[in-house]
Amino acid sequence: PLVPMTDFLPRAKKEGFAVGQFNMNNLEFVQGIAAAAKEEQSPFIYGVSEGAMRYMGIDYVVAMAEIAARESGVPVALHLDHGSSFDVVMQCIQAGFSSVMFDGSHYSFEENIRLTKEVVKAAHAVGVSVEGELGTIGGVEDDVQVDEEDAALANPEEAIRFWEETKVDAMAIAVGTAHGMYKGEPKIHFEIIDEVAKKIDAPIVLHGGSGVPDAAIQESIKLGVGKINVNTESQVACTQVIRDLLGEKPDMIDPRKYLGPGRDAIKETVKGKMRLFGSSGKA
Ligand code: G3H
Ligand code: ZN
Repeated sequence: PLVPMTDFLPRAKKEGFAVGQFNMNNLEFVQGIAAAAKEEQSPFIYGVSEGAMRYMGIDYVVAMAEIAARESGVPVALHLDHGSSFDVVMQCIQAGFSSVMFDGSHYSFEENIRLTKEVVKAAHAVGVSVEGELGTIGGVEDDVQVDEEDAALANPEEAIRFWEETKVDAMAIAVGTAHGMYKGEPKIHFEIIDEVAKKIDAPIVLHGGSGVPDAAIQESIKLGVGKINVNTESQVACTQVIRDLLGEKPDMIDPRKYLGPGRDAIKETVKGKMRLFGSSGKA
């Protein structure tokens, strides 16, 4: 069965590893990610953006995730990624999601706290875990688009107060990463992670995990990051394989012949991240 993130995140923070959120875009992602987790014996989180949900349909998302959880035999959370309203959060919970993110980062600080508290109250009442966000993460992910000038780092004192008031189970704070591929290397503000992680029980969430150097990932986990989101790197790996194959064989028409290798590429990418995050063998 699908489980809330609270089934594994407290242990991750205590033992110094992170659990990956891997975004689900279609069947090949569902299967590639689950196969990686089964081989690595790692818990994981399926992230589903509102755009991905429109693409697949909410009932397909839940049904596929439930089958993947059963097949893989590892703890799996089905998590709404960057939920934009109380309504969409409720829709997901009713459909069978075990976890939700409410992204109130575009609201004022006080309004973000107020709305996140409402989500926490409703979600916790039915055993669903909640991620909140403070500060704005740059880059583009589906409906979430933030120009570089508008990306704002989280203020550590505000982040601590946000957690104390909302008691979210995972706390996304903007520390310098961005959604999508980086031009150059991201500058991660480790001092923000350090300051906040010491003062709150919940693990910190690193969004925009694609393209962050391994050493920076390891350092951030050491300081208190317990959940890391990866989407773009899996997409790039999948699409690259398919583009090469179709380029070499223009007469290829059976989708299984190129989607299968695409799925394998997703699996390999995810396995590498699970090892890097230290979640392998923690199922
Ligand atoms: O919410 C999902 C992510 O933060 C993924 O970011 O596409 O840069 O890996 P990414
Ligand atoms: Zn994100």
